[in-house]
Amino acid sequence: MSQKTIDFDINPSITADEYEQTARLALPGYELMHTFVLACLRSCLPETANLLVVGAGGGMELVHLGQSNHQWQFLGIDPSKKMLAIAQKKIAQHQLSQRIQLVQGYIQDLQNDAIYDAATSILVMHFISNEDDKLAFLQEIARRLKTSAPLILVDVFGIKGSAELEKIMAILHTYWQETGLPVDKQKQLLENFKNAVYPLSETKLLALLQQAGFSSVTRFYTGLWVGGWMAFKA
Ligand SMILES: C[S@@+](CC[C@H](N)C(=O)[O-])C[C@H]1O[C@@H](n2cnc3c(N)ncnc32)[C@H](O)[C@@H]1O
Repeated sequence: MSQKTIDFDINPSITADEYEQTARLALPGYELMHTFVLACLRSCLPETANLLVVGAGGGMELVHLGQSNHQWQFLGIDPSKKMLAIAQKKIAQHQLSQRIQLVQGYIQDLQNDAIYDAATSILVMHFISNEDDKLAFLQEIARRLKTSAPLILVDVFGIKGSAELEKIMAILHTYWQETGLPVDKQKQLLENFKNAVYPLSETKLLALLQQAGFSSVTRFYTGLWVGGWMAFKA
């Protein structure tokens, strides 16, 4: 399994420093999506839980979830040193270092014991180009989850070149003008979408989740080109 993706240290879609600010302007409902993630997890996890955050770079979900749940413990994994450095800083600022461990690497670098009560993959899997590698990515997550544990998956979705996604992208373009996303960033994101983002249709995403051993899927969020699903390890 290669899970080759865009390298956020060498050739990021947005530089690590600008990531969060740009994400807020570029991704409709970015902050609200994180609040939905929190609500989804709260609805099914106990007060004490062990969470795996895949693609934790930047630290957004670690801090959001960590601040609201005082007994949850986290392991955040990400291949990008620069993104992890930002996460580390944010974690320290919010005094969450005691409950959050960060590891530089890929999911398959972690021991494969089923010790986690939940996992998140937020805006990560669409960077994996190959469908087999996406499946392997989900299977590697499943392997590390306890039975019935939830997975939160947030990804760009849709069929590239389809009339439906073209329409969504046209709306997104107008949305970016409304949010004031600088034109150079708009160009950069579109270029990146063209060359380094590999979305799947929702049908295909649900099939992959099922193949990887997840069931009971609920879509909890749609922000034009981005969708969020909660599934449970069968
Ligand atoms: C768009 S950022 C999302 C960060 C964070 N989850 C958020 O929502 O703010 C994508 C992150 O995924 C990481 N990444 C890319 N490919 C990955 C992979 N195969 N496994 C784990 N993380 C990966 C990148 O290094 C980057 O930090």
